[in-house]
Amino acid sequence: MDKLIVQGRKRLVGEVSISGAKNAAVAVIPAAVMAEGVSTLENLPYIEDVRSLCHTIEKLGGTCEYIDRHTLRIDCDGGIDHRATFEEVQKIRASYYFLGALLARYKKAEVAMPGGCNFGTRPIDLHLKGFRALGATVEERDGMVHAYAERLIGTSIYMDQVSVGATINIMLAATMAEGTTTIENAAKEPHVVDTANYLNMMGANIKGAGTDVIRIKGVEKLHGAQYAIIPDQIEAGTYMIAAAITGGDVLVKNIIPKHMDSLTAKLDEMNVTIEEHDDSIRVTANRPLHCANVKTMSYPGFPTDLQPQIAALLSVCQGNSMITENVWDNRYQYMDELRKMGAKVTIEGRLARIEGVERLKAACVNATDLRAGAAMILAALAAEGESVIGGVKYIDRGYEDVEHKFNTLGAQITRIQE
Ligand code: EPZ
Repeated sequence: MDKLIVQGRKRLVGEVSISGAKNAAVAVIPAAVMAEGVSTLENLPYIEDVRSLCHTIEKLGGTCEYIDRHTLRIDCDGGIDHRATFEEVQKIRASYYFLGALLARYKKAEVAMPGGCNFGTRPIDLHLKGFRALGATVEERDGMVHAYAERLIGTSIYMDQVSVGATINIMLAATMAEGTTTIENAAKEPHVVDTANYLNMMGANIKGAGTDVIRIKGVEKLHGAQYAIIPDQIEAGTYMIAAAITGGDVLVKNIIPKHMDSLTAKLDEMNVTIEEHDDSIRVTANRPLHCANVKTMSYPGFPTDLQPQIAALLSVCQGNSMITENVWDNRYQYMDELRKMGAKVTIEGRLARIEGVERLKAACVNATDLRAGAAMILAALAAEGESVIGGVKYIDRGYEDVEHKFNTLGAQITRIQE
C-alpha cells in the first residue's frame, strides 16, 4: 500500500482548486442507471470511489465511460441487471444507492451489503425501513439485500434519525413510485440537494430538498440529463484547515462559500482571518490560534467529516478544546495516531478533550479512514520533522491528486508506491 512522506513545518501559501463533491458523485452516478437514455455527469472528482462505481455500472451491463478525467457518459438505456452482487459493490458504502435506483426502475434489486470506512457500526436499517414503507419486501441474507415490489406506492416517511444515505436512497426509490412521498426529518446536506437537482433534470418531480421535508411526486420514467455536480465541501474544509494549521495564506477556489459557514465561523472564532468571495475563500493564519469547542451535527451544523481535521488543528491551539462527535458512535479511532505525534487527547465516549501543545512531532502513522488520513497530512505538515503516512488508499478514495494539490501550496509530500 502506498505511503506519503511529509516534510514538517511547511507554511502553505497560494491557491488550490477544489474538485467535485465525492458524496454527491457517489449518489448521482448510481442514480444515472434509472434513466432510459444517456447522462453526462460533469465536475466529478477523479477518485477511487467514482472509478469503482463506474466498474459496477459496467458489470451491470450499462456503459460508463470517461469523456475526460472529470466527466462521465453513462448509458443504461438498453436496461441493466438488477443484481449488484459482485465484489466491486462491497468496496464502498455508497453502493447501497443501487438499491434505491434499481428498485425504482425495475421494482427489484439485489445488492451486496456495503463496506466503507471502519468507524462505528454503519447500519442501513433506515434505508430498508423506507423501502418497506413504499411497499417493497426487503430481506437481508447471505450478505445481500434483496428488495422487490409489485408496486411502489408513495407514502409519508418520518426519519427516526437524520440520515444522508437513507434520505437519498428513499428519494431514489420514491422518484418512480405511484403517487406522492414525503420524507420528514430529511437530511439537508448539499449533496442531498445536488442529487435531487440531478433527478429533476432527468424528469423527476422533487421539491423541498435542503429542508426538513422533501416531497417526491412519482413519475413513470426518467430520461438522461447533462449535470455538473457541486464542489466538495469537505475537501474545501480540509484545505482551509491546512492553511490554518501551517500558519499559511491560501485561497481555496471553486467552492460554494455558503456550504462552508460552520467551519468559517469556527476558524474565525479561533483567530484565523477569513475572506469570503463569490466562489472562493481566503484563509490567513498569522496570529496565535485560540482553542475552541466543536460539536458535529447534520448540515448546516459542523460536519462530522471535518472532525478529524479540526482535531489536528485544535491539538496545536493554545489552551484546552473539546470535540463532541454527535453523528458517529466511534469516530475517534485515529486519535491513537495523532497521539504518536504528541497530541494530548483524552476520549470519554462522544467527547474528546484536547490540550493544545506547542508543536507536534513527526511520526510514522496510519490512515484509519478517509478523513482521518487527511488529518494525518495536516498534522504532519505542522509537525517538526519528516512523517510517514500509511494507508494512503483511504485518502485516494476521497481526495483527488492529494500530494500534488498540497505541493502546489508549498508542501513537500512524496508518494512511495509499495
Ligand atoms: C454519509 O454517510 C457520508 N458518506 C459520510 O461521509 C458522512 O460522515 C455521513 O453521511 C454524515 O454526514 C456518503 O455520503 C457516501 P448517515 P451515511 O446515514 O449516509 C446512523 C466521508 O468521509 N444510521 O447520515 O452512511 C449512522 O450509523 C463519509 O465522506 C443508522 O442508524 O451517514 C450514523 O450514526 C464518511 N441507520 C448516522 O445515522 C441507517 O440506516 C448518520 O449516518 C443509516 C444511518
